[in-house]
Amino acid sequence: MSRKLLLEKEHVENIRLYDVYRREGGYRSVEKALKSMSPETIVEEVKKSGLRGRGGAGFPAGLKWSFIAKPEGVPRHLVVNADESEPGTFKDRYLMEFIPHILIEGMIVTSFALGSNVSYIYIRGEYAWIVDILQQAIQEAKNNGFLGKNILGTGFDCEIYVHRGAGAYICGEETALIESLEGKRGNPRIKPPFPAIEGVWKRPTVVNNVETIAALVPIINDGGDEYAKIGIGKSTGTKLISACGNINKPGVYEIDMTISVEEFIYSDEWCGGIKNGKKLKACIPGGSSVPILPANLLLTTAKGEKRLMNYESLADGGFATGSMMGSGGFIVLDEDQCIVRNTYSLARFYRHESCGQCSPCREGTGWMEKILLNIENGKGKISDIDLLWDIQRKIEGNTICPLGDAAAWPVAAAIRHFREEFEWHVNNPIECLTRNFGVGHYADPIHIPELV
Ligand SMILES: Cc1cc2nc3c(=O)[nH]c(=O)nc-3n(C[C@H](O)[C@H](O)[C@H](O)COP(=O)(O)O)c2cc1C
Ligand code: SF4
Repeated sequence: MSRKLLLEKEHVENIRLYDVYRREGGYRSVEKALKSMSPETIVEEVKKSGLRGRGGAGFPAGLKWSFIAKPEGVPRHLVVNADESEPGTFKDRYLMEFIPHILIEGMIVTSFALGSNVSYIYIRGEYAWIVDILQQAIQEAKNNGFLGKNILGTGFDCEIYVHRGAGAYICGEETALIESLEGKRGNPRIKPPFPAIEGVWKRPTVVNNVETIAALVPIINDGGDEYAKIGIGKSTGTKLISACGNINKPGVYEIDMTISVEEFIYSDEWCGGIKNGKKLKACIPGGSSVPILPANLLLTTAKGEKRLMNYESLADGGFATGSMMGSGGFIVLDEDQCIVRNTYSLARFYRHESCGQCSPCREGTGWMEKILLNIENGKGKISDIDLLWDIQRKIEGNTICPLGDAAAWPVAAAIRHFREEFEWHVNNPIECLTRNFGVGHYADPIHIPELV
């Protein structure tokens, strides 16, 4: 049984409400931090905890906070990234919808540590109903003296505002998010300067994921050293995983990062095995942008060790034989799933979400989508597979923001591990067409006219 730090109270009735949350021990970390700790000691606790950003890149949170510039008289800001638009990722939604006060609690402590008197939650536009939940939680915290002026009589002032995005995945990238928060089109900025030096309205800003900030609550309550004892290596604490695809029990799970991928997929505590008794074919373990792994490399590393659900183990072998923890969006594919179809679907998403500022991403994502659709529809050539490989190589690392890489990696990994499936499509055009028109299997009404 994994230890729960964030979801421990998920089944307490009405935990969404302040009174219940408080009765269950909520807001203790604010009392402790504001009354008995300095901002510097909080940052030290976070460094000791080994907490890594839960938004995708896994950057150490305490280290990021220590970079924040402190020019005299210039306000600083905390911005919580609740944009969560990566296909397969829905863990922040769960946390905000069911235990919103844990985010508000973590934000107050973090705001105090960073010296932010005005902090923001940037939430994806589609999470409209969660905006209301968060607004209510903020108001309740304010009514009880945890937000507003002179919090708990300590002299610290803090307001939290919720800003709703307009439905663009790119606004999850931290500098695009900042542009959008400022009221502009969400185009990523060229870095440096990094947000810690020049963020919202050119002021020092820390952008952190929802789950990262919520983790402040157990870190402050129990201490950074205790938090670091959970997990393994540089994967400390617990991690929320949103599991979906062909599994018996899709959902959001909190794991400690010592369990194996095999346990996670097959144990009844988590995914409960593959649906309908099918075989596991592949998995995208960290949200749509991380490399897909075939079953053999998913369960065991190339060195023959059991693969674990943590940052280091999932990445073991680099992109040749490994993948990434990413945002924790765990997408399982059974033996019936078509890798070409899946890759096309992802390519279509990334082409649609590219902001268009850089040519390799703007043009390359469109080319990859078209070529993949041709192959999927039985109209491809063998040379198209090499062309796809060439295009993704030329996108990766040549763009302003990592969306370009995020678009390139799924294509690269699919070809690397499943090239024969691409070749099958090229060599069996009639079967591709028949299959596409088959009842309900891969039928996609948007594309059927193009097939005729
Ligand atoms: C295209 C794109 C989308 C992203 N979407 C999100 C997101 O929805 N939520 C998130 O926390 N981070 C997202 N990120 C990562 C953020 O840029 C940033 O690294 C993160 O919010 C930092 O928080 P963390 O250190 O707590 O992980 C995205 C990055 C890219 C390139
Ligand atoms: S990589 Fe793509 S999404 Fe990112 S800035 Fe360039 S064009 Fe925009």
